[in-house]
Amino acid sequence: MPSLEVDPKNRLNDLDSRRWLQFQKSWFYLGAETPAEFIAFFTKEFCHDGQPSTTHPSANGKRSAVGIFPENTATLEPMAKSLGREAIVLEPSIVASSAAALDYVIVDLREIFQNEESYLRQAPVWLNRLHAAAALMKPNSYLTMFLCNSDTSERYLPLAWELGKLVGNFLTMKDEKIGCERGEDHAAAGNSTTAPAAAKHIVASGAEVMYCLNFRRDAEVIPPLPHFLPTPEQQHQQKASTESSWDERLAWFVVKPPPREKNVLLHPAKFPEPFIQQFIERFTEPGEWVLDPMAGTGSALVAAAACHRAAYGIELNPAFCDIIQQRFEARRTELPAAPIWQVCSGDAGIAKTYDKLPASFHYVITSPPYWDMLRMKGAETQQKRKQAGLLQFYSDDERDLGNMASYEDFLENLVKIYQRVGARLEPGRYMTIIVKNVKKKGQIFPLAWDLAIRLRGDFALCREQFWCQDDQKLAPFGYRYAWVSNTFHHYCLHFQKPLF
Ligand SMILES: C[S@@+](CC[C@H](N)C(=O)[O-])C[C@H]1O[C@@H](n2cnc3c(N)ncnc32)[C@H](O)[C@@H]1O
Repeated sequence: MPSLEVDPKNRLNDLDSRRWLQFQKSWFYLGAETPAEFIAFFTKEFCHDGQPSTTHPSANGKRSAVGIFPENTATLEPMAKSLGREAIVLEPSIVASSAAALDYVIVDLREIFQNEESYLRQAPVWLNRLHAAAALMKPNSYLTMFLCNSDTSERYLPLAWELGKLVGNFLTMKDEKIGCERGEDHAAAGNSTTAPAAAKHIVASGAEVMYCLNFRRDAEVIPPLPHFLPTPEQQHQQKASTESSWDERLAWFVVKPPPREKNVLLHPAKFPEPFIQQFIERFTEPGEWVLDPMAGTGSALVAAAACHRAAYGIELNPAFCDIIQQRFEARRTELPAAPIWQVCSGDAGIAKTYDKLPASFHYVITSPPYWDMLRMKGAETQQKRKQAGLLQFYSDDERDLGNMASYEDFLENLVKIYQRVGARLEPGRYMTIIVKNVKKKGQIFPLAWDLAIRLRGDFALCREQFWCQDDQKLAPFGYRYAWVSNTFHHYCLHFQKPLF
């Protein structure tokens, strides 16, 4: 029997506000019940075709219909039924007869797309099947796809992104969640005396991540099926050099950094130093040269100096350059040997800014403005920063990428900066970009995916890892009406410059 406590104004599901909020966190621990949690979030037990029930939730309602594919029947059908939903197995005859009206579709593609070969062979067939299922979905209903990117010794194929973008041609891609498989107890590993200093701040981690891509049917008439063709970028994709292929198995981690220095709080978006230091230690040897072309308050420089690497930075806003210099002065006496430390104030997009820097670097680690996200943040957060005398934006400079109104212009300029920086990276060496996908006015702009796809003619994408934040307050976006995540995972995209 359905619970009598169902909020009659909740149009999307039968969850109370606490469970709704929990589901909105963009990363979660994978478990046997994961698909059931998605079904429970995206459907009500009884549907009223968009209308709230006025009395008991079952009054005048029909059991919600969940579409599943025959390949997933064994796992998903019992789950849908145990939640009181009707499971509709999308056999070809049902799809062809358009006999179903679906409240939700859920599909697990992990077993089907296991590598590049299976993806190239099966993706056109599955695009067809997903397109046909989309036509059976009721207006405003959702479809969830579970799948993983493919990691081989030679290259990292982001097939989840590829397929996500293709399905986004006929359903609206609303947002993603990532399911993190629990790993070892890293608190214990970090406490060992042999672990690198930075590892002590990693409180949880694991080796596998599953994408959960959520789409909504917004269009009355489903747009035509896109052509499935390998993109030009795919055809000219760089491959990682085998001798230095990726050997690190951590796919995600939660970091608990020490409290920040007071002067860096002025800056609106920083990454924690211990988290950066683990990458610097992974990709360079002591004495080598590290560059951050968008240095902010110099977190990358601080992390590089802490592990005895030479630290270089470029930053547009002179006020942040002053902070970086103050941080250097504070460390000059603390560190056993005076670190090499140089900051250039200027635009990372033009050659002149690099004039005084070395001709080449051993590693680049950086994080761009997440487009104009700071300009869209909730008035409340920005108000609080203003009251505390802290900056709400990086600057008002028109060269600041965080001030660009058009996503396409922003992306193009950012890619040019990374290409310029790449020209100064030693062959065979790595560049790590920390970035998030961006949501704006109900639409997702997959910045991390777009960047990686556009850069793959210049660099080999070796791996992605996720920095998952566990210390942020959840907000009830979309409560009762629609799915909107609280995005608390950042991509750490690792690229390698080809040897030749
Ligand atoms: C996400 S923040 C970097 C924060 C830094 N990782 C930290 O932890 O302090 C991005 C930085 O890029 C800078 N920036 C934006 N456009 C730039 C440009 N064209 N050239 C150089 N820096 C730029 C901004 O001023 C901002 O400080």
